[in-house]
Amino acid sequence: MKNPSLPFAENDPVIFYDRKQRVYYDLLRPGKKTNIRGDMLPHDEILGRHEGFLLRSQREVKYWVFRPTLNDHVVNMPRGATVIYPKDLGVILQYADIYPGAKVVEAGLGSGALATTLLRMVGPEGTVISYEVRRDFIENAKRNMRNFIGETPNHIVRETNIYEQFEEEEVDRVLLDLPEPWRVVHLAAPKLRTGGIICSYSPTVFQVKSFVESLRVTRGFMAVMTFETMFRRWNVEPMSVRPELRMIGHTGFLTIARKVEIGAADVEEAAPAEASSAEEKPE
Ligand SMILES: C[S@@+](CC[C@H](N)C(=O)[O-])C[C@H]1O[C@@H](n2cnc3c(N)ncnc32)[C@H](O)[C@@H]1O
Repeated sequence: MKNPSLPFAENDPVIFYDRKQRVYYDLLRPGKKTNIRGDMLPHDEILGRHEGFLLRSQREVKYWVFRPTLNDHVVNMPRGATVIYPKDLGVILQYADIYPGAKVVEAGLGSGALATTLLRMVGPEGTVISYEVRRDFIENAKRNMRNFIGETPNHIVRETNIYEQFEEEEVDRVLLDLPEPWRVVHLAAPKLRTGGIICSYSPTVFQVKSFVESLRVTRGFMAVMTFETMFRRWNVEPMSVRPELRMIGHTGFLTIARKVEIGAADVEEAAPAEASSAEEKPE
């Protein structure tokens, strides 16, 4: 895995901030120059240096040079499929309880945003298995991942339709970001270890409803919870401290559930006012 505290090397992603805090993203190559509206930033002046320095362009404009954070990378990297946004990636790690050493199956790989996030969290002792039907998306995601985190021998990619085949056994976590997640539940349920977690990310309520229904039908899942997250930036200027005018209004809903022995689940409809998670319980 690449270590972000090392100096810049060939093929590393880089971001440039200008004085208006606009961000420009590129991949470093010897001899290459990043072109910003006709102004040039030579990569040879970046390679071998540590991030955080001020670079002057050929027109003497100031740019600050950094390694992209995972958030920067996810929103700027070349996309095949739509990515899961940082606000949801962080929440997935916490609510699906991804931990070092975990064996995680995810589908589909898409552009590799979630897979990259998972690999950083499971660490070298863990494994991430990604299902994806489109070879061109696999190639793009692998490139994105290699550029950002380097080689990851603990990432297994299956060019397989997960609605038809789920190969792994004794899986700790299953994460689904694909059009019909409910079609995976009956295949994943026997492969997820008891106590394990399944998590689905879907943009529409119709998908959420179908997914939750499929969890109920297996009678193998408890602690089912659906939620969404909202993220609003603030403008902080001396004479104007207020929310920013624009925000991402909607990305997707998350549904999380815990696996019990198949047939053992016994779920009553929750009463509307009932606390449903530790977070909501009063002190
Ligand atoms: C929204 S994208 C996933 C984005 C990904 N989570 C990320 O963060 O970059 C959905 C992906 O699922 C793939 N897909 C759709 N149906 C599939 C199936 N049955 N099996 C495996 N992959 C599938 C699509 O090709 C697409 O790349």
